[in-house]
Amino acid sequence: MKFFIDTANIEEIREAHALGILSGVTTNPSLVAREKGVSFHERLQEITSLVKDSVSAEVIALDFEGMMAEAKELTAIAPNITIKLPMTPDGLKAVAALSKDGVQTNVTLIFSANQALLAARAGASYVSPFLGRLDDIGQNGLDLVSDIADIFAIHDIPTEIIAASIRHPMHITQAALKGAHIATVPYKVIMSLFHHPLTEKGIEAFIKDWNSRPEA
Ligand code: E4P
Repeated sequence: MKFFIDTANIEEIREAHALGILSGVTTNPSLVAREKGVSFHERLQEITSLVKDSVSAEVIALDFEGMMAEAKELTAIAPNITIKLPMTPDGLKAVAALSKDGVQTNVTLIFSANQALLAARAGASYVSPFLGRLDDIGQNGLDLVSDIADIFAIHDIPTEIIAASIRHPMHITQAALKGAHIATVPYKVIMSLFHHPLTEKGIEAFIKDWNSRPEA
């Protein structure tokens, strides 16, 4: 399973990129709205000049023509822009048209296996099941990832599964075990993956022992 970062914050992207673990970035309108004083397009230019892998940029329009017009503007920013579209009939029409033109697409707000199958058949490069938001309403987001992974494997579907709406480290371990190809993870959760009390205790002990050498 690969890691994407789920943010529009350039500092967070820079830090995660420096760790050498990033295979892409996802943004959404809510994440972009948190970034003050910079336009969406300028921010995408900054991100794509740093990260050469997939950078998902979401359309705002809800109708096919509007989505296609936005997709045209967004793909002109950089060749690695992936167009993120909502799981609606117009969204899938746009996925079908864009995929015919060789444009990468990410269908977002996936909450059922049937939605994922429809999106994949329309030609989506990625589908994004939202784990945390399902957990929030008492359903199991990880079971959804597992179902989608099984269906895609049985039917030899190349669409990649991005486990999204990740809230904590166990979501990541479990999404990897259930067959997600990618997890898109907030910066804070990425950094939390480093912590283990035995790692920290071990480092402390090694330094202490080193400094207690007779010649030190
Ligand atoms: C995915 O592409 C979305 O941007 C994101 O994971 C949504 O997460 P949230 O439910 O924490 O807003």
